[in-house]
Amino acid sequence: MYRTLYGPQGGHINLDGRNVINMASNNYLGLANHPALVAAAKEAIDQFGVGPCASRNIVGNFTVHDELEEKLAKFKDVEATLVFNCGVSANSGVIPCLVGKGDTIYSDELNHGSIIDGCRLSRAEIKVFKHMDMDSLETKLKEPVTGKRLIITDGVFSMDGDLAPLPDMADLADKYDATLVVDDAHGDGVMGPYGKGTVEHFGLRDRIHIETGSLSKAFGAAGGFVAGSRELIDKIRPQARSFIFTASPLAPCLTAAALKAVEMVSADDSLVKKLWENREYFAARMQKLGLNIGSTVTPVIPVIVGEGEKAQQMSQSLYEKGIYAQGLQFPVVPRGAARLRVMVSAAHTKEDLDRAADAIEASAKELGLL
Ligand SMILES: Cc1ncc(COP(=O)(O)O)c(C=O)c1O
Repeated sequence: MYRTLYGPQGGHINLDGRNVINMASNNYLGLANHPALVAAAKEAIDQFGVGPCASRNIVGNFTVHDELEEKLAKFKDVEATLVFNCGVSANSGVIPCLVGKGDTIYSDELNHGSIIDGCRLSRAEIKVFKHMDMDSLETKLKEPVTGKRLIITDGVFSMDGDLAPLPDMADLADKYDATLVVDDAHGDGVMGPYGKGTVEHFGLRDRIHIETGSLSKAFGAAGGFVAGSRELIDKIRPQARSFIFTASPLAPCLTAAALKAVEMVSADDSLVKKLWENREYFAARMQKLGLNIGSTVTPVIPVIVGEGEKAQQMSQSLYEKGIYAQGLQFPVVPRGAARLRVMVSAAHTKEDLDRAADAIEASAKELGLL
């Protein structure tokens, strides 16, 4: 069973009736309960009501959807975006618009489940390459194919916090005439200047033309999107099945909250900077303890403990100390690499991070990991 929140998402939460420091959510910038987002959502409810009750291509397209798409395009430095009701829908809807039967997809073995679903729905042949291994990718690209080629990867991998080697992937995409698609659900609002994402972090805006993303993480709301050229968006809008067949498009209140978040992040990078300051501080403490945090370079910090049972015990022991971090085990992560996934946020204070690090040290000692 999963645990239940008795109040808003934030640096601290009431989880199953206990107040704990929240080291488990994707609320990277602490925007989920920000007064400006809450106000925007309330205003949108007053203006537009609650349910959209129609797909956007019928009568479910509200002015806030159009505004969000425009602002998001500016934020991502692309011509256009299209907003879906979540990132899962974006991936499952977009990928089949890009390739189909007779084409080939090259997919990192640790790509998010919604990328995998989108690839399967496309009916293209799927070649899975080893995680971030460019030799493995190139070996697969060398195999002859007839149709189009599409390489797809997470920007930031959500279980390990490592970054896809996008410059090398862009080179391989050019060399083998493939389209490179990046799902930056955990990079938007986090990576690059003003949190513009992993593509901006690597300075590859001119070379990577299609991204999918989510508004449920750093932007503190909900929703998913695809970003790219106007021609691409015009092709996807009438075709993506998860877009045209749902009468549950992103609700206007969530759209308005996401819009507010995009406006705030575009105008002021102080939250992104705070997130990184917190991340560096916390990661350094974990490293000093000698814990195995894998190859993370982002605010997703895995503490790899090995066996699934250990990860669950550690999560429980931390909960009892007033900290919540999720224990993850097979099949979510590879066998033998079970972990505590610690998510750092701009909503944390230094004191929160110290308390969390002290508790992790104590629990790791209790479990014989230190
Ligand atoms: C890489 C990646 N893509 C897509 C998604 C799905 O986004 P959403 O939560 O908006 O459905 C997630 C969410 O967990 C993710 O980690």
